[in-house]
Amino acid sequence: MSAHADACHFELRNMRAEDLPQVAALDQISFADPWPQGSFEYELKTNNYSLCLVAEDPDAAEGETIVGALVIWLIVDEAHIATIAVHPNYRHRGIGRRLLVEGLLQAAGRGAVKSLLEVRSGNLDALHLYFGFGYKVVGLRPNYYQAEAEDALLLDLDPLDLEFLRNIKLTFSS
Ligand SMILES: CC(C)(COP(=O)(O)OP(=O)(O)OC[C@H]1O[C@@H](n2cnc3c(N)ncnc32)[C@H](O)[C@@H]1OP(=O)(O)O)[C@@H](O)C(=O)NCCC(=O)NCCS
Repeated sequence: MSAHADACHFELRNMRAEDLPQVAALDQISFADPWPQGSFEYELKTNNYSLCLVAEDPDAAEGETIVGALVIWLIVDEAHIATIAVHPNYRHRGIGRRLLVEGLLQAAGRGAVKSLLEVRSGNLDALHLYFGFGYKVVGLRPNYYQAEAEDALLLDLDPLDLEFLRNIKLTFSS
């Protein structure tokens, strides 16, 4: 991954089939129990009730342009955060936040009024991200992540506050 990540500008867009190898590679370095490429392919091509977004650094070397990815499952009126990852070289620059804002706004446009997710209880980066949106801890799933022998916290954001999300989005373009 390029060393100029500090100066990068990035773009959000819908995931495309040609992104899949990079998205799977990103998942691989981000999780102990990554999704195989076929799972992303299913979400993108087959599941009509998922939203798949990527963050792209257009200035990165070819084959290294996908720096973030998000999949949301639309379950009745709920936006379930299925997976979100930002490349380690690009973290703490607001990319995860932008992906989540965009994903939640798109989910709201398709009928979601609340959001739910599971997160490793020790995943402080992710917890900071989610608490910044107002997610609250509503449950615990013991030993949910068997690869890491770690509990999951169940977080929900109910209701989705569209004005809050749009205001965050506005700060990105200012
Ligand atoms: C979780 C993850 C997606 C966050 O992506 P990111 O692009 O680094 O997040 P952002 O830069 O948008 O940060 C969002 C907020 O969290 C804060 N934050 C992020 N990491 C933080 C940390 N270690 N300590 C304090 N605050 C932190 C940021 O400051 C920002 O808040 P602010 O805008 O109020 O300052 C990223 O760490 C990641 O890919 N982790 C591995 C995969 C993973 O665990 N995914 C979550 C599964 S539930």
